Amino acid sequence: MSAETPLLLPTPNSVPRVRQRRRGHLDCQDVFRLVLSASVVAAFLLFVLTISIINETTHRLPWNKQPDVVFPNFSHYKYIHTLPHSLFPTHSDDDRRIIAIGDIHSMNQSLSALLAEISYDAHSDTLIHLGDVVSKNTKLSTDPLLTFLSTNQILGVRGNNDQKVIEWRAWMDWIISLPGGKEWLQDMDSLWSHIDGDEPSTAFNTWLKKSHKAWQAYVPDGWKLQGNHYKVARDMSLKHYDYLRSLPLVLYAPTAHTFFVHAGLLAADPTLEASDPRQPLSHLPTTANPNDDDLILRGLQELALLNEIIQNQDPWVLMNMRSLSKKGKVKDGKNGIPWSDLWNDMMDSCSDSPATELSMNPSSSTTRTSLKCFPSMVMYGHAAARGLDVKRWSIGLDTGCAYGRRLTAVVLDAKSLLPQTHSEALGTSFQDSLVPYGDGGTAQLVNVKCHS
Ligand SMILES: *[C@@H]1O[C@H](CO)[C@@H](O)[C@H](O)[C@H]1NC(C)=O
Ligand SMILES: *[C@@H]1O[C@H](CO)[C@@H](O)[C@H](O)[C@H]1NC(C)=O
Repeated sequence: MSAETPLLLPTPNSVPRVRQRRRGHLDCQDVFRLVLSASVVAAFLLFVLTISIINETTHRLPWNKQPDVVFPNFSHYKYIHTLPHSLFPTHSDDDRRIIAIGDIHSMNQSLSALLAEISYDAHSDTLIHLGDVVSKNTKLSTDPLLTFLSTNQILGVRGNNDQKVIEWRAWMDWIISLPGGKEWLQDMDSLWSHIDGDEPSTAFNTWLKKSHKAWQAYVPDGWKLQGNHYKVARDMSLKHYDYLRSLPLVLYAPTAHTFFVHAGLLAADPTLEASDPRQPLSHLPTTANPNDDDLILRGLQELALLNEIIQNQDPWVLMNMRSLSKKGKVKDGKNGIPWSDLWNDMMDSCSDSPATELSMNPSSSTTRTSLKCFPSMVMYGHAAARGLDVKRWSIGLDTGCAYGRRLTAVVLDAKSLLPQTHSEALGTSFQDSLVPYGDGGTAQLVNVKCHS
């Protein structure tokens, strides 16, 4: 016997064990297994059937959060409205005026007092509100103000609070369109209208969870049922809703080189250098033609502010911005650099370069140290904590009427648009209420006390 052969043979230990079982017979264990798997399959089928029946009849799923609720677009944004030249005074004897008013927050009597103070005349004056016309609290009705604004087709911009009311109303229209939605809303309103949904209510939350688990998933995160915005949205007429929806995010007045916006507008992308070629104020408009005159170039550059600065394309920024972080992030909080500082820095460097330098004719261009741009004005509200905030190229007008402080207007007339009156007006009879406006005019500030 050779010594090699045994190496190829398996050792007794490595032989697989063959199960000892008699063919054709089931033992107890097998029967049990079969029954068990059959019942699992049956239970699953029953479950699926039940779910689909419930789903079919009620359009609800019986577990708490419905993961597949797809919300429609509630925003109804309208980006810009351009004010026609015809609304503005054209000669020094023209009596047309543009009157911008800060956040009214449904303080209709204060508005009446302010309009009386400035002898408002609907035929020659154009009224522009700066947004947040809806009430701050449930005790004060928004109805009289919205009636006045909508029946007189008063111009204005959309505020963050107006936006929330629009979204709630769009949400209500959507819920009503769903099977059972109308009944659920009626149920909730008849039982819970008395509560202030902006305050936490355990009783309401319990009711919502217990009896209407499925509908809860149809309320977007952070939205407060029976809160102030909800109630204004629910109670306003269709005409008032249409009025709010007609408000643009930006009103642009090329004649006065002025933007009206609720919270703010950026003159540059704060995450880039001011001289970066991507900044619209760092160069002549890319859309310009060689024979465009300065007025056309200026208009194109103003539009480029809106279209080319990426933050200005975000409705949230226009309705909520208060400041900028050191890294250039837009914030709605008070801490940080006011966005209006950036606006004024940019416009100051524009106004250092006379408009003639900006001509595209190469022979007239000189060496520029400042930006190749034209200055423009911005009027805004929203920042009640800062109050009246008059800077060279921006006017913040929210003077806290809703908190019993004041309601303020800026009155633009022929003197605001005619540069030659600037030095004269400021030099001879400077009053507190007279402020520099635009290229070299003056504007009048008027305010009244609010009683809340
Ligand atoms: C919602 O609609 C607005 C116009 O009202 C539009 O600008 C916006 O991009 C839409 N949002 C989404 C997420 O589709
Ligand atoms: C609201 O104010 C407007 C503008 O002054 C005025 O015409 C209207 O009568 C007021 N409405 C109420 C109910 O006070």
